[in-house]
Amino acid sequence: MLLRSFHTPSKQIIRAASTNQKSIGEFFSQHLSFPFLQYKEHLHVAHAEKQFIYDTAGKRYLDFFAGIVTVGVGHCHPKLIEAANKQMNKYWHLSTYYLQDTVKDYATKLLEHFKDDPQLSVCLFVNSGSEANDLALHLAREYTKQHEVISLRNSYHGVVQSTLGLTNITGFKRPYVPGSRVAMNPDPYRGIWGGRYCRDSPIQTNRSCNCSQDHCQASDRYVEQLEELLNYEVSKKKVAGMWIESIQGYGGTVQFPKGYVKRATELVQQNGGLYVADEVQSGFGRTGTHFWGYQAHGAKPDIVVMAKAIANGFPFAAIVTRPEIAKAVGTYFNTYGGNPIGCAVASAVLDVIREEKLQENTHQVGTHLLKRLAKLRDQLPDAVGDVRGKGFLIGMEMVMDKETRKPFPVEKMNAILDRCRHNGLLLGKGGNFGSVFRITPPMCITKEDADFAVDVLEDAIRKEL
Ligand SMILES: Cc1ncc(COP(=O)(O)O)c(C=O)c1O
Repeated sequence: MLLRSFHTPSKQIIRAASTNQKSIGEFFSQHLSFPFLQYKEHLHVAHAEKQFIYDTAGKRYLDFFAGIVTVGVGHCHPKLIEAANKQMNKYWHLSTYYLQDTVKDYATKLLEHFKDDPQLSVCLFVNSGSEANDLALHLAREYTKQHEVISLRNSYHGVVQSTLGLTNITGFKRPYVPGSRVAMNPDPYRGIWGGRYCRDSPIQTNRSCNCSQDHCQASDRYVEQLEELLNYEVSKKKVAGMWIESIQGYGGTVQFPKGYVKRATELVQQNGGLYVADEVQSGFGRTGTHFWGYQAHGAKPDIVVMAKAIANGFPFAAIVTRPEIAKAVGTYFNTYGGNPIGCAVASAVLDVIREEKLQENTHQVGTHLLKRLAKLRDQLPDAVGDVRGKGFLIGMEMVMDKETRKPFPVEKMNAILDRCRHNGLLLGKGGNFGSVFRITPPMCITKEDADFAVDVLEDAIRKEL
């Protein structure tokens, strides 16, 4: 297959860049603790614009990972730069001790996205997704006066001490975090139950089932399992809350059977617990059909957690909740929470998503991309086990054998990633076994970009078969 190449840098530039890359690579491994450096030959970034990243040799890459699902509106968007500059020229930081228009204007704009539940009317601003989940944990425990919390297997809610108990992925698990219960993951592809109508996605699994399109029995079974957990493992069924990513991100873009999130969270709420919707990856239009992922589940969260795309990669995060829950925390302080530059950038993000119709683009181009990837799944022999997701939150799970679903080995995954990178495409990787390609481009990509990415990926996979 002939692949379109973006740019061929000169030999001198490549030589200079590779010497430089070696020394910076050594520095990173000796003096910085960044365990996730992705490529065998490290990628040394010079600058980025829109959906593209440029390395120090001048080579251009199509960025299909977007700073780990963060750069929603594209790299270096001029409106965001203008907003940040304008605020920087006024003042950078004052703390939460004074009234500030930038903070008020952003909170007002953000709350407009919660019109379907006007009780969600209080914003608390923090600096990262982990910190937002930590604060949500604090609020849920204070409000309910309960300690135990529930999250799903394969979930990722951050890895600060308090959220380690909510994150259930092998490498991050620690034995010393008390108070966390782990519910069975309702995964229609890998789980015990799942079939061909489960997912809210243009692409279903190839599993068969006896369900009708409007009633998913897998959902019933997984809710029963949650009920068992409440009956047997939790004192008087009382928990502070249940955390759910609307689509699991780091865990490999796992979607749940239709109806599960609504019924599971109602069960917890009926027993006095809160439903915390983790929208760190699925928020801000990334799923295409809805602005928030939980809306597609028809569920009613008590706390919504957001980060990443909220400010396109500027360190900023928030939770939105009801006033009585926010008050429950009592004394709380956060020096950088509501940083005015973050608020200015986050405000511009909301404008750009609306003005450039990025959610609509995500739905259209994302659906096209999903369908092309599903074709690849069906055409290739044992390799692609599953394609799933919505909009630009897409996962492609690689298997050695479609029957047994034995995960692709890490070396093969890395070889494909390396080959894609060589041909100008950057992808992410995730899942408990590291066997899922995470395809999460900025929301401004075109259909041509999507086609280019599928061609490059297909070529890289075929070479690995
Ligand atoms: C769903 C989800 N929640 C929370 C977090 C933690 O966010 P941060 O890395 O900003 O602390 C992440 C990060 O990947 C995430 O994907």
